[in-house]
Amino acid sequence: MPDSTQKLLEDAKVKGQQRLAEGVYYLAVHAPKIAAAARPGQFVDIRILTGAFILRRPVGVVAADRENGIVAFIYRVIGRGTRAMAKLKAGDTVNLLGPLGNGFSMEHKHPLIVGGGMGLSPLFFYAAGMKGKADVLMGGRSEEEVFWRSLFAGIAKNIHITTDDGSVGTKGFVTELLPKLLSEGSYDAVVVCGPDPMMKAVAAIAKEKGTPCQVSLERRMGCGLGACLSCSIDTAHGRRKVCKDGPVFPAEEVFF
Ligand code: FES
Repeated sequence: MPDSTQKLLEDAKVKGQQRLAEGVYYLAVHAPKIAAAARPGQFVDIRILTGAFILRRPVGVVAADRENGIVAFIYRVIGRGTRAMAKLKAGDTVNLLGPLGNGFSMEHKHPLIVGGGMGLSPLFFYAAGMKGKADVLMGGRSEEEVFWRSLFAGIAKNIHITTDDGSVGTKGFVTELLPKLLSEGSYDAVVVCGPDPMMKAVAAIAKEKGTPCQVSLERRMGCGLGACLSCSIDTAHGRRKVCKDGPVFPAEEVFF
């Protein structure tokens, strides 16, 4: 088994890119060393080698196909860097540093994945790693935002959906459905990624129901390696770096 704590620097050829929804793209690159080492919940720092971008950009790994050496990402265009990323074509080269971070614990037998928006990206890799044992509760503003449903369809056992406008699934936030699911579902873990207020609310419900909860935090990052301190947070055990000590933490450690 390749060492997922080893940091690799790898030039990667773009295999292809696909638009999934308004401003959301799926990018696949050929990076066999990182594909072999990456674990669900980890991320890589991408450096685009075209144009004037020298900063690396952290992106969660959405899939790693060890056999074919492919690493994939799903990202939303939010600024100059991701706009440049959206222009990448098959055959272009990017540089990857990774895999970074700690990743999810994969010990559970029947976890409930809870995700909102782009938070579902690292959870997709986790769901694939759980090989059909995980259920998913996904939330979004509208039907277009839950394009994730078709992606998770092949890898999750049951899929529950909430939308703010009620255009698909239950109207409201994921927290509408969560108490009922945890009461009825015999889950041994909740695994969540999304905006902080949503993760905090999910963690509070999981605690009330006595279900252990892992959260995957998203923070602005500089070095991605634990050196610049730009991603430091306060936890129940003192200051921690999201890039190195996380991004996955037990919920009680960060929402205390
Ligand atoms: Fe530099 Fe985390 S990004 S310490």
